[in-house]
Amino acid sequence: MSFQQIVNRLKEENEVLLIAHNYQRGEIQDAADYVGDSFGLARKVAEMDVPNVVFCGVDFMAESAVILNPEKKIIHPEPMARCPMAAMVDIDRLKRYREENPEAAVVSYVNTNVETKAYSDICCTSSNAMKVVRSLEEEKVLFLPDKNLGNYITRFVKDKEIEVWEGYCGTHDNITPKDITDLKELYPDAEVIVHPECRPDVVDIADHVGSTAGILKRTIESSSKRFIIGTEVEMGHRLKKESPDKEFYFPGNPFCSNMKMITKEKVIRSMQDLEPVVTVDEDLIEKARIPLERMIEVGRGD
Ligand code: 13P
Ligand code: SF4
Repeated sequence: MSFQQIVNRLKEENEVLLIAHNYQRGEIQDAADYVGDSFGLARKVAEMDVPNVVFCGVDFMAESAVILNPEKKIIHPEPMARCPMAAMVDIDRLKRYREENPEAAVVSYVNTNVETKAYSDICCTSSNAMKVVRSLEEEKVLFLPDKNLGNYITRFVKDKEIEVWEGYCGTHDNITPKDITDLKELYPDAEVIVHPECRPDVVDIADHVGSTAGILKRTIESSSKRFIIGTEVEMGHRLKKESPDKEFYFPGNPFCSNMKMITKEKVIRSMQDLEPVVTVDEDLIEKARIPLERMIEVGRGD
């Protein structure tokens, strides 16, 4: 039996659906009921008419699904698949900042743990970060933890005083302008599209900047035939699937080892046993839901 056939059988037997981020292994994306960016994933679980959802992504994505859908069983095939950026917030420093700056709004990227969300006013994803910041009444903003996404926003939002945390994503931060220009020499007609987690000097030489869903949309709509893509390399699977006649080139090998910890075997085990179930601290769940729901109300940005 193929992986897809096993997955289909387990979906029926165990009333379970499969959801995957755009950086998941190609075979898992192909078997999933929904594949998307962080924003799409955060919204999609609520629409799934089943009691169990196997969530293929990193920890903060699965936790957000629990926070927004406490009545559903969210199963994460590999609990060790954790986004390192989410651990880059020192919670005591954040609490101190709140005490010392009561007039400021705290905007946290969804790539954060539950406790950080609980101390935030509103969350955002890379898709709607700009829209979220612009929606705030407060003039003073603390944006955390991604310095690159935060600095990207400050290029456009000029009427707010935005302080940016020092976190980053190694997968994106390692992409250099030279990686891009080397590819551009080989493919001068290629359009350059990068994720806002990339460094400012990489953003400077891009034709477009967007979330993984934004990148997908642009490649579908563009008349270009070649693209240099500044994001995790598995994104190429999704891009090629939607535009088989186009070519995609990745600078270096931007690889998220955490995303790849989820394998076909682990997905089958999770769909069979409906384990490991994601749990979130009961005291924090109610507080963390407020900024996530506020973010969903603001809506998608790209
Ligand atoms: P997206 O929200 O664009 O899917 O990004 C998530 C992520 O982890 C990027 O590294
Ligand atoms: Fe986290 Fe970067 Fe992996 Fe995205 S690509 S999950 S930000 S480590």
